[in-house]
Formats: sequence, structure tokens, C-alpha cells
Amino acid sequence: MYSSKITGLGYYVPENVVTNDDLTQWMETSDEWIQERTGIKERRWIDPKTEDTTAVMGAKAARIAIDRAGLTKDDIDFIIFATLSPDMYFPGGGVQIQDMLDMPTIGALDIRNQCSGFIYSLSVADQFIKTGMYKNILVIGSENHSGGLERSTRGRGVTVIFGDGAGAAVLSRSEEKGKGILSSHLHSEGKHAKELALIGPSTNRWVPEIINDNDPDDVSYFPHMNGQFVFKHAVVRFSEAIVEGLHANGLQKDDIDMLIPHQANLRIAQFIQKKFELSNDKVYNNIMRYGNTTAASIIIALTEAWEEGKIKDNDLVVLAAFGSGFTWGSVVIRW
Ligand code: UT7
Repeated sequence: MYSSKITGLGYYVPENVVTNDDLTQWMETSDEWIQERTGIKERRWIDPKTEDTTAVMGAKAARIAIDRAGLTKDDIDFIIFATLSPDMYFPGGGVQIQDMLDMPTIGALDIRNQCSGFIYSLSVADQFIKTGMYKNILVIGSENHSGGLERSTRGRGVTVIFGDGAGAAVLSRSEEKGKGILSSHLHSEGKHAKELALIGPSTNRWVPEIINDNDPDDVSYFPHMNGQFVFKHAVVRFSEAIVEGLHANGLQKDDIDMLIPHQANLRIAQFIQKKFELSNDKVYNNIMRYGNTTAASIIIALTEAWEEGKIKDNDLVVLAAFGSGFTWGSVVIRW
């Protein structure tokens, strides 16, 4: 069996900054409420006048990651692309990125695991690399939330939280034992699927039906979140996933050098930090600047932490996520 390690990281966020105060033009909310409940100060929302889409942003992040890995597009053997906000209902965005990057006719797999999208993607990539099937895999997470959020007081409980952006990582084959991805742990609990979901349009509630009904109270085509219910599950599942990752590798919480939690809510991250008794320099958060970018959040945070020199050779890096599905999981990396 080979080892697999991250050799390149990159991210891209749209230029358009939307502050908490900016949101008050559409809804009754306040900077104070948003910061106190979520930690978010601002987020990036695509300016529709620009070329950015989910796939375009993913391709931009991917170019940076490939370059930093010291590779070219022709060295990539496979694409894994995670999003909940694809440009098209089908096909998935992985093939768009293959085309945008003018890559050879390699396989492209789309992952639909929302906030856990990067954890699931990295785990799948890890299996392909370790078995020797592929040498270099491009893993991407990208989201265009802003196009599908309800910009009104009715939608404020969800709308203020989400931001747009993309991150990418190149996972490469390595012969170094005990380094790279040590383990990954994936979970789901579908009975809570509707607690954080976008129900229609779908084959259950198709577009003509929504148009025909013309019901002003129908919000099935906006994301719905039972915030407190999700929060309560998140803190438990985040902790479980981290403990599982540590135990699988015979490690303790003191061994963690850097924890990168999915950026869902600063209060969740702080709860986890306290529970695992981690100092401030051992947890990386950027939700203040980007909001929740779902499948992109961990890769953007990981890239920023790495760019800022906060992840060093041999560090134990733990990634953990929880979100819609419910799905959750962790990845343990010896950098
Ligand atoms: O990434 C996927 C996983 N997602 C998560 O982990 C998110 C988990 N949940 C959360 O982060 C929190 O539940 C939220 C940040 C979404 C909401 O915070 P909360 O403390 O649970 O607030 P709440 O939903 O219980 O709402 C409290 C009050 C309500 O008013 P009343 O009924 O008490 O009068 C809401 O209508 O705050 C009101 N409210 C707002 N007020 C101002 C809801 N959204 C807003 C808003 N601005 N944006």
C-alpha cells in the first residue's frame, strides 16, 4: 500500500464582500445578532455581473493547487468535486472543471455530502491513491450559495450564514510511511435529512408543479435549516468524529497540532476547542471573513492556515465536519 499526501492547496473567493450591515438592505437583522450567534462579520457573494460560477471558482482554485503541487494539468489522474450548489442539475460540475482546465479525458466524480463534502472527497481520493490506482487526484469543493438564498426577513435564519467560495487540494502518491493521510472516518444519519435541506425543485417537487401552485408561502426552493436542532447534533458529532480519528491512530487530544473544523458557526468551533482543551494556535477559523462555504470551507481554511505558516512538517492535522444529511466525519493527517 502507498501513502497519500496533500501536495498542493489553493482557494478562490469572489471579490464582492457582503458585510453584516449590507444584509440589512434586504432583511431585518443586525451585525450584533449575526456576530454574537455565528461569529460571522462578512462573507463573499458572487457578483452576477462577473464570470464566477460554482465550476468557474472551482477551476480557479484548482489551478493554484496544481501549480503549488509542482504539477501540470496533464499529471492529474482523477477529479473529485464536491458541491451542493452545482451550475446545472446534471451533469455534475466535475466534468465542467475537466473541460475548463483542458484536462485529458480523466474520470470526474461528483460528491454530494454538503458540509462534509471535502471530508468524503478526501477519503475517496485516499483510497484510490493508497491502492495504487491513481497517482495524483484533484479534490475540489466549491459553492455558489448566494444565488439560491432568500434575501428577506423570512429567510434570514439561513441567508446570513452562507458564503460563496472554492478550495482545491492535490492528493498525491507517496512512499513515506506514517505520513500523509493516516485515516478517515465517515458517517451519516439520513433520518434527519429534512432538518437541513433544499426540498424542491426536485423529482418530488418539480419546477412545473411549483410554478403551477404559484404559492407565495412555498419556500421549498430555498434551503431550510432547523438551526438549534442542527447545532445540538453538530457539537456531539464533531466531537465523536475527532475522538474516533485520534483513537484509530493511538493518539490523544494533546497530540493535535492543528484542528480545522468545518466553518459552520464560530460557537460550534469554540465549543469543540474547549472540549479538547486546545489553545488558540491549534484551531483555525475563518468563518468571520467567509461565512459557511459548505464543501469549500475546510479546504479554504486549510489553505489559509498553511499559507500563514501554521502547519509545519510532521504536524498532526485533524479535519472534521458535520452538516446536511446528516453527514459527518474526520480525516487525520500527519503533515
Ligand atoms: O454547516 C451545516 C451545519 N450548520 C450548522 O451547524 C448551523 C447550526 N445552527 C446555528 O448555527 C444556529 O442555530 C443559527 C446561527 C442558525 C441560529 O442561531 P440560534 O441562536 O439557534 O437562533 P434561533 O434560530 O433560535 O433564533 C432566535 C431568534 C428568533 O427570534 P424569536 O423567535 O426568538 O423572536 C429568530 O427569528 O433570532 C431570530 N433570528 C434573527 N434575528 C436577526 C433568526 N435569524 C436572525 C437574523 N437576524 N439573521
